[in-house]
Amino acid sequence: MRILAIETSCDDTCVAVLENDRILSNVISSQVDLYKKWGGVVPDIAKRAHRDRIWPVLGQALKLAISCKSQAPNLKLQTNSNLPSFAKGYGGQANEKIRKIIDERMEKIDVVAVTQGPGLAIALGVGIEVAKELAKKYGKKIVAVNHVEGHILSNFLKNSRGKPERKIKFPSLVLTVSGGHTKLVLMKGIGKYEIIGETLDDAAGEALDKAAKMLGLGYPGGPIIEKLAEDGDENFLDLPRPMSKFKNCNFSFSGLKTSFYYKIRKWKEERVAEKIYDLASSYQRAVFDCLLIKLQRAIDMTKPKSLMGAGGVMANLRLRKDLRKLARKNDLQIFMPFKKELNTDNAAMVGIAGYCKAKKGEFVKNIDKLEREARLELVLDKV
Ligand code: KG4
Ligand code: ZN
Repeated sequence: MRILAIETSCDDTCVAVLENDRILSNVISSQVDLYKKWGGVVPDIAKRAHRDRIWPVLGQALKLAISCKSQAPNLKLQTNSNLPSFAKGYGGQANEKIRKIIDERMEKIDVVAVTQGPGLAIALGVGIEVAKELAKKYGKKIVAVNHVEGHILSNFLKNSRGKPERKIKFPSLVLTVSGGHTKLVLMKGIGKYEIIGETLDDAAGEALDKAAKMLGLGYPGGPIIEKLAEDGDENFLDLPRPMSKFKNCNFSFSGLKTSFYYKIRKWKEERVAEKIYDLASSYQRAVFDCLLIKLQRAIDMTKPKSLMGAGGVMANLRLRKDLRKLARKNDLQIFMPFKKELNTDNAAMVGIAGYCKAKKGEFVKNIDKLEREARLELVLDKV
């Protein structure tokens, strides 16, 4: 089965093509350069950028994945928003090229998968409209995908040669951590999930992003803090590990952020600059400790047969090391997406979730009625 997958739930415009669980192409146009000065995603800018970028990204993904007899025209994929606009239809030089690529290749696609939610409503809307247009024009079925399920299933993705082959034992305990959510999910099989714990306020990635903004470091904060933390002292600031004494598996990061703020609010700029490595390191340590403490509690409670990590924050090398250590201590195998770019938002994860649902015949019944769902919840265990 060939799946064309679209992801526009936040600040990355992504399209991928999969052959079952194998990635044929995975194109990501990141918008982070647009938000550096704002310290976070601006919904209106995101919507415009998705609209400007989605067609060229789509053309690129199809071109990379599927070869056709006729030579595909060259597409120049830009990262600024100065690209042919969806709103203006297919007119213009670049749009003509893209249209040709899409026309020639859509017949080789079986299913269109698209993120329905959760995410930024107006951003989700762009991907859904494009999916609908393609499905109608080329007579394809649509699968609507939950973004969080996509992150979880990114652990099952393979490259075009079918690697890595993984035998993930269920139930598997998944720590999924990104800018929009932080959850501990017990996965009993594909499509069978139980939420063991989640954040009551900010997500872990959001906590890192907000601290970076406080320190004037730019967006997204996670990777910037990771880099600085490498050279810092993680015990420099004495920060709380909120909810660590609570006998449940929920998280809370807003108190940690506030406590960080109060510790440094009277500091002069020069002192912040001088201690920036130590600040980044001790804050990152506190965020990750919260994750690890609750992951250990969830392991004790649920006795899983394996562990998984997913979501943007999982791209962090320190966290990956910590998780591997914790897995070893518990004598459990741990899986994480096989490539760094499969942790942060991408459409390959939407493709694999789409593939799993399509195999079960879970298609959108009435395409016209498919709508974005900004607060879409993970479908829980159906057994
Ligand atoms: O999964 P993702 O791309 O989008 C959402 O679904 O939210 O996650 C984005 C989040 C951001 O908060 C970003 O700061 C964080 O993931 N992130 C990282 C790293 N790369 C991205 N956090 C820590 N270390 C990283 N290397
Ligand atoms: Zn995400």
